[in-house]
Amino acid sequence: MKIAILPDNEAIGKVGADILASTLKDKPDAVIGLATGSSPLPFYRELIERYKAGEISFAQCKAFTLDEYIGLEPNHPESYVQFIHREFVDHVDFAEGAVKTPNAQTDDLNGAAADYDAAIKDAGGVDFQVLGIGSDGHIAFNEPGDSLASRTHVVFLHDQTRRDNARFFDDDINQVPKEAISQGLGTIQEARKIVLFVQGKGKARAVREMVEGGISARWPASVLQLHPNVYVLADEDAASELELISNYREDWDNFASANL
Ligand code: GLP
Repeated sequence: MKIAILPDNEAIGKVGADILASTLKDKPDAVIGLATGSSPLPFYRELIERYKAGEISFAQCKAFTLDEYIGLEPNHPESYVQFIHREFVDHVDFAEGAVKTPNAQTDDLNGAAADYDAAIKDAGGVDFQVLGIGSDGHIAFNEPGDSLASRTHVVFLHDQTRRDNARFFDDDINQVPKEAISQGLGTIQEARKIVLFVQGKGKARAVREMVEGGISARWPASVLQLHPNVYVLADEDAASELELISNYREDWDNFASANL
């Protein structure tokens, strides 16, 4: 893993955008994996700015979001399809229909999950995957205890995740759906490049377990240690429990001065 410990959200957004810009330079029709949640928002804001400045384009790209709640109307403001359009997609130049989300509006959710994996494969796989991480170490909606090799599937959300996400639902956990459809860890691991955004003290333990803990379903993000091309873009608070923090700073400085 390459770990960048950055001073603020602005720096996190800029480094993420630099990495994506270099992917798009090599492959203007890249397939992008999009994450919801607050962590990637500085990155999306930076991408919108660069698009408006004429520096990048998504016109040839396809995109797949990670997950979707089950049981929300598609026009509910907190459904992930609404979120990703509002915060990013509608501000840039993706072609009509180029951004896909899991179909949670069907009686055949397992079929929809299998179709989603097939659609990602048909598109050639994900070139650049955006990720956040939950305070319990979940990525997408792969909760502690889930298979490290799972494909897109229906998941039951733990109370910790529902409590964390209640801030988007009038601080009322009862309004947070109990189920979702989520890309699996096996699906996510097939992306060619993964960039994970994380901020705040509340994520520090999850970051430590992801980077320095044993690979275990207890902390689902720890599976990323097996991926050859992961970037973790963290602020000081999120990185504060890392034991080898000075090594990561040194490695990142060397990497960034040669590549970014
Ligand atoms: C949700 C999403 C995840 C996201 C996580 C963290 O559970 N399904 O994809 O990474 O929340 O969200 P935030 O970035 O808002 O802390």
